[in-house]
Amino acid sequence: MNLILLGMPGAGKGTQAEFIQKDFGLANISTGAMMREVSRSKSELATKVQLYLSSGTLVPNEIIVEMLVERIQQDDCLDGFLLDGFPRNLDQGKALDNANISIDLVLYLSIKEEEIISRMSGRRVHLASGRSYHIMHNPPKKEGFDDITGEALIHREDDNPKVIKKRLSVYYNETEPLLEFYKNKNLKFIEIDASKSVDVVTDSIRQSISS
Ligand code: AP5
Repeated sequence: MNLILLGMPGAGKGTQAEFIQKDFGLANISTGAMMREVSRSKSELATKVQLYLSSGTLVPNEIIVEMLVERIQQDDCLDGFLLDGFPRNLDQGKALDNANISIDLVLYLSIKEEEIISRMSGRRVHLASGRSYHIMHNPPKKEGFDDITGEALIHREDDNPKVIKKRLSVYYNETEPLLEFYKNKNLKFIEIDASKSVDVVTDSIRQSISS
C-alpha cells in the first residue's frame, strides 16, 4: 500500500507516521526530515535549503521532487511507503502522477488552527531520527531525551510564532488545494479527526488502513 498523510503543520503527521511504519511495515518518508538533513549537511544545497526551512516557506519543487522520486525508487519502498509532507502543492501532486507513482490511500488529518499553536510550541524533536514528542501530550520517558537513543531533544527553530504563522499561510495557499485534487481521484480518501488524543487518532488510522 502506498499512502499519503496530509494535514496542517503540527497536525500529527510525523507522530502517526511512526506508528504506521511499525504496524504496517511501510517505508516512512518525511520530506521535512529529508530537508533538515540536507540543511545540516556539507553540500552546496545546505545553506539554500536552510533559508526556506527557517522562513517557513516551501523548498522549491526543482530541489525536492527529484530527490523524492529517487527515494521512492529504493528497495525498501517495494512493499509500500508512507509520504509525510509530500506532496505540498498541486505541482508536486502532479509530479507523482507523471512519475507513475500510484497512491492507494490519502489520510487527511484534520484539525483546527487553534490547536496547532500549542502542539508546536510544546513539540520536542530528536533530530537524527525525526521522532517527535510533546512536553504534555506525548512526553518522552525522561524529560528532554529521546526514548530510543537517550540523545538530547531540541525545539525546532521553525516552531516559533512568526514562522508558524507563515507555515500556516503556506498550508492554506499551497497545500490545502490538494484535498480536492485527491478527493477527485480514483483512490481512498479518508478524513481523520486529528484533534483527539494520540492513541485515538492512531486507532482511527489503523481502522482506515485495514478496512
Ligand atoms: P515538515 O517537517 O513536514 O513540517 P510540517 O508539515 O510543518 O509538519 P510538522 O512536522 O510541523 O508537523 P506534523 O504534522 O508532523 O506534527 P507532529 O507529529 O510533529 O516540513 C518542514 C519544512 O520543510 C517546511 O516548512 C518546508 O520548508 C520543508 N518541506 C518539507 N516538505 C516539503 C515539500 N514537500 N516541499 C517543499 N518544502 C518542503 O506533531 C506536532 C506536535 O503535536 C508534537 O509535539 C506531537 O507530540 C504533538 N501531537 C501529535 N499528535 C497529537 C495528538 N493527537 N494530541 C496531542 N498532541 C499531539
